[in-house]
Amino acid sequence: GEEAHIENFKFSFEGPFGAYDQNQLQRGLQIYTEVCSACHGLRYVPIRTLADEGGPALPEDQVRAYAANITVLDEDANYHLYDPEAGELRAVTETDHFPAVNSAGAPDLSLMAKGRAGFHGPYGLGINQLFKGMGGAEYIASLLTGYTGEEKEEAGTVLYENTAFPGGWISMAPPLYGEDVEFADGHSNDLHHEAADVAAFLMWTAEPKMMARKQAGFVGVIFLTVLSVLLYLVNKRLWAPIK
Ligand code: HEM
Repeated sequence: GEEAHIENFKFSFEGPFGAYDQNQLQRGLQIYTEVCSACHGLRYVPIRTLADEGGPALPEDQVRAYAANITVLDEDANYHLYDPEAGELRAVTETDHFPAVNSAGAPDLSLMAKGRAGFHGPYGLGINQLFKGMGGAEYIASLLTGYTGEEKEEAGTVLYENTAFPGGWISMAPPLYGEDVEFADGHSNDLHHEAADVAAFLMWTAEPKMMARKQAGFVGVIFLTVLSVLLYLVNKRLWAPIK
């Protein structure tokens, strides 16, 4: 088969001290909202987590406004929240999850960055995964930048050639071309940047506690280091009279 090509993007959250870039996550949210959400849901992601410190850290009022806006998508997104007490549809609030979108036959993106690996082998040893990480975000960014422009029709479905997609042909039309969104902070919206931003956002949806996990690991390492020194000193002292 064809070798899928995954580009090694440089993400801020890589490495033991890496952290999500809040501005990047906010730009990624904007791309997801304006482009991807037409077809893809994020059903496992609670809207209120957009305010999380280790995540996009949106101000609370913006999170509420974001939730309130989702009602506009109701018809398209099949997202109806039924309030049995009032006997009618109710507005989306920040305590709800992002909508599940089932109409377009596109997979839910909540956990996609963990569900796909960017790096493999060689020879199934997982060496590249060990050194470069799982690379789910790299896979997504490479997918979004990997269209060759070639199309073919198979059994009534249009397939698009993509150098990152296993098998080389995907049924998702290129969702990004560059300059698809305008960022309030004037950040570059060329294809490469947009792809990286939305991939980073989807890494956060898949692993929202990555920062807390890394911090806990760091505290653990410090704790064990201090403990080792103490044990060494205690050991010396205990055995001193005997030597
Ligand atoms: C599949 C991302 C926009 C329709 C996928 C996959 C990802 C993805 C990661 C999974 C690929 C895999 O299975 O490995 C995105 C992102 C978007 C976006 C980040 C926005 C920038 C859209 C839009 C549509 C769409 C707007 C519909 C018009 C699909 C479909 C599939 C798919 C139908 C299944 C493709 C297949 O398995 O052949 N997308 N997508 N996507 N997407 Fe999107």
